[in-house]
Amino acid sequence: MASVNLENVAKRFGPVVAVHPISLAIDDREFVVLVGPSGCGKSTTLRMIAGLETITEGTVRIGERVVNQLPPRARNISMVFQNYALYPHMSVAENQGFGLKIAGRPKAEISERVGKASETLSLTPLLNRRPAQLSGGQRQRVAMGRAIVRNPDVFLFDEPLSNLDAKLRAQMRTEIKKLHQRVQTTVIYVTHDQVEAMTLADRIVVMRDGRIEQVGTPYEIFHQPASTFVAGFIGNPPMNLLPAVAHRSADRSGVTIGTGVFIPLPDSVLASAADGMPVTFGFRPEGLVPRQAADAGAIGHAHQMDLPIVLVEPLGSEALVFIDLGGEEVVAKLYRVSGDLPTGTVPMVLDLDQIHLFDAESGTRL
Ligand SMILES: Nc1ncnc2c1ncn2[C@@H]1O[C@H](COP(=O)(O)OP(=O)(O)OP(=O)(O)O)[C@@H](O)[C@H]1O
Ligand SMILES: [Mg+2]
Repeated sequence: MASVNLENVAKRFGPVVAVHPISLAIDDREFVVLVGPSGCGKSTTLRMIAGLETITEGTVRIGERVVNQLPPRARNISMVFQNYALYPHMSVAENQGFGLKIAGRPKAEISERVGKASETLSLTPLLNRRPAQLSGGQRQRVAMGRAIVRNPDVFLFDEPLSNLDAKLRAQMRTEIKKLHQRVQTTVIYVTHDQVEAMTLADRIVVMRDGRIEQVGTPYEIFHQPASTFVAGFIGNPPMNLLPAVAHRSADRSGVTIGTGVFIPLPDSVLASAADGMPVTFGFRPEGLVPRQAADAGAIGHAHQMDLPIVLVEPLGSEALVFIDLGGEEVVAKLYRVSGDLPTGTVPMVLDLDQIHLFDAESGTRL
């Protein structure tokens, strides 16, 4: 068990800056997820922590120890990759125990540790099979078993579930979460899947172009996104983000959207927006509901508008409703769909307590 500390850690490949200087303090036993679009520097960051990539600049500490110059095997970490890299000619048991065997551990100890990990991962009935005789999910579990038996201070995962189909991915996600609750080890987990990030993380690190855009709990990242980038990346469907102009005069406090739809806003929401300032107006699909379905008591500050429905996508228990709002298409999420889906122009309620305002130019939260 150990904390992990990055202090102004950067990575350049010749002229390519993969990671700009970033700092991040990860607590002992914390589950931290690095998330962001392809090429934003997630794997490079993880590989510097693992020792698979040299560090161009800065300091990496695992526990109290500076590990910059230590080879991977001296860092007491275990890594699970997207392609599990199992040895095809070895059994499930041998694959899991191989690292310990190389390290010269006694046979009895290896078999005890492999037995225990296999028990945890429900691999016991499969110990004599080869990787080719396993399903994708089972192979994934063997790769995890191999990581667990080493009893590492830190687990590093790089997209460990992306080779699995959607159903198995959801199942293994739950398994990884349970595993973390059981083994209580620090985990750094890389994914581009925002659902994995939200469900697994104690804290999420959103990366963009080699920089950290925001660090926070899943709740903070979802409810207080630091920028339009984070707002648009987390949440499904993503937050509606509309160009707007702020108004702060004695008689008119709010924003105008698109062709001139005015939405009155309390001062607390307008925060530091100046009169006439171009802003990006954001609300999540859950924040706009048909008046019929709105639980009036649950919405503190509401604004009602009659809005034309463009399209409805039923998804079973819920539906996505595409709506025209001042010439901009926005999406609302409708829960507990029963009977007829809404059509035509319907009275909609916008929850003003769930409004987000961003600087139109920089994209940062106001
Ligand atoms: N060996 C290398 N030489 C040159 N550039 C590299 C090298 N490895 C990575 N890069 C570049 O560094 C940047 C970050 O890459 P990285 O693999 O960390 O991204 P990532 O966030 O893991 O993306 P993905 O989600 O696609 O795996 C990319 O622009 C990539 O092209
Ligand atoms: Mg990667």
